[in-house]
Amino acid sequence: MNKKMTLAIIGCGRFCQFFVPLFKAHPTVEKIYVCDIKKDREEDYAKRFGVERIGSFEEALASKEINAVAIFTQRFAHGPMVIKALEAGKHVYSAVPCGITVDEITEIEKLVRKTRLTYSMGETGFYRGAAIYCRREFAKGTFGKFVYGEAHYNHDIRNMEQSFRSSGGEDWKKYAGIPPMFYPTHSTSMVLSAMPGVYATKVSAMGFEGSERTDIFGREGQNLYDNPFSNTAMLLKLSNGGVVRISENRCVGWKAPETYISQFYGSEGGYEFSVAKHHMATWDPEKNGNVIMRDVSKEFHPESVWELLEKDYDRAIQAISEGAGFEESVPHQPTEYLPKEYKGMINGHNGTHHFLIDDFCRAFATGKLSPTNIWDVARYNIPGLVAHESAMHGGVPMDVPDLGNPPDDWPVLDWETRSDDER
Ligand SMILES: NC(=O)c1ccc[n+]([C@@H]2O[C@H](COP(=O)([O-])OP(=O)(O)OC[C@H]3O[C@@H](n4cnc5c(N)ncnc54)[C@H](O)[C@@H]3O)[C@@H](O)[C@H]2O)c1
Repeated sequence: MNKKMTLAIIGCGRFCQFFVPLFKAHPTVEKIYVCDIKKDREEDYAKRFGVERIGSFEEALASKEINAVAIFTQRFAHGPMVIKALEAGKHVYSAVPCGITVDEITEIEKLVRKTRLTYSMGETGFYRGAAIYCRREFAKGTFGKFVYGEAHYNHDIRNMEQSFRSSGGEDWKKYAGIPPMFYPTHSTSMVLSAMPGVYATKVSAMGFEGSERTDIFGREGQNLYDNPFSNTAMLLKLSNGGVVRISENRCVGWKAPETYISQFYGSEGGYEFSVAKHHMATWDPEKNGNVIMRDVSKEFHPESVWELLEKDYDRAIQAISEGAGFEESVPHQPTEYLPKEYKGMINGHNGTHHFLIDDFCRAFATGKLSPTNIWDVARYNIPGLVAHESAMHGGVPMDVPDLGNPPDDWPVLDWETRSDDER
């Protein structure tokens, strides 16, 4: 890989610290600048990670030396910043979500199509064990025709105060009231990534308005979005005829597992998950009308968690609810193809971080599309934005716009063997 990246990382908040070392260690990255409007944060990052500082986002965009930016600002800010960066000719990595309006996402797609710059959204859901499992088994035909799936992202506001306070300060509740469906990509990506080219055509959603957090969720001025819903569930009709239910919960008595597929059913097989147990059923060719049911849980847990599950199940599920295994890889992940520099390095969200940074850097270096490119990401993100509208109108079914497929002459990187370059 001869093409080298000089990267400006924008937003030195709570999340980005897990990624600077990964960018720094990647063989494609030559130099890193960090930038934050809060200068103490920028200074801290520069010292901690041994990287340079740059005065502002605008300065980074104007720099001839910098050819890529990574956006780690608050969730509502990504769309407009990504648009500016692409207009300035920079390759872009963005934290999730892609955008919070359909117009922003449409504009990003237009710009990527026109400029052929790399855009990659760091979607942890794409590399979760269950997403990988369903992708592989669906590609093999184990599931047959897709019928129905369910995925969830539960993140109670009790665990998010510090995140929203980080930039929202005393006003954090105004930001925390962002509609749950503005952040649907963890859940949608897990199901949709199994079915390349498939997208939602219709959505109907219902929101929960009865939360006790009336200081955060409420109509008319309670938050920046006049959003009354702490939890929202959407039902999607897919272009292949399948149906998917996605729930995004921000006030719910649950902690972890937080991002998961609970059901993925096809005409020939079905996968189910609950807490720590993963099961797979397929039709039994020997016994008409019966299925072969297998407990496939071992394939989903890091060794440390699996050992605990076998020894003391109750302790293990308590540990999982407290985040056990969060920094470890899971057996389904193709870690053997990651850059050797990543071995033993900081990781997170169940071993997904390494893949996200490697995908962006490989896409930049090879000129191919990241697996989480704008066309796939639009299909993960837009249904949620329309779903919020549907929920605000009592669940009325609405059409979901689709931005189409990538150009035919722009291949997508192989997420599995990662064999698109000579590394
Ligand atoms: N699983 C996941 O994928 C996952 C998990 C956590 C966070 N995130 C995403 O990561 C992003 C960052 O989250 P966080 O918790 O670090 O937020 P944060 O508020 O702690 O950090 C954001 C930082 O961006 C800075 N910033 C804002 N505008 C800027 C600008 N114009 N120029 C320079 N700096 C600017 C802020 O000052 C702040 O330090 C969010 O979008 C969040 O959705 C994703």
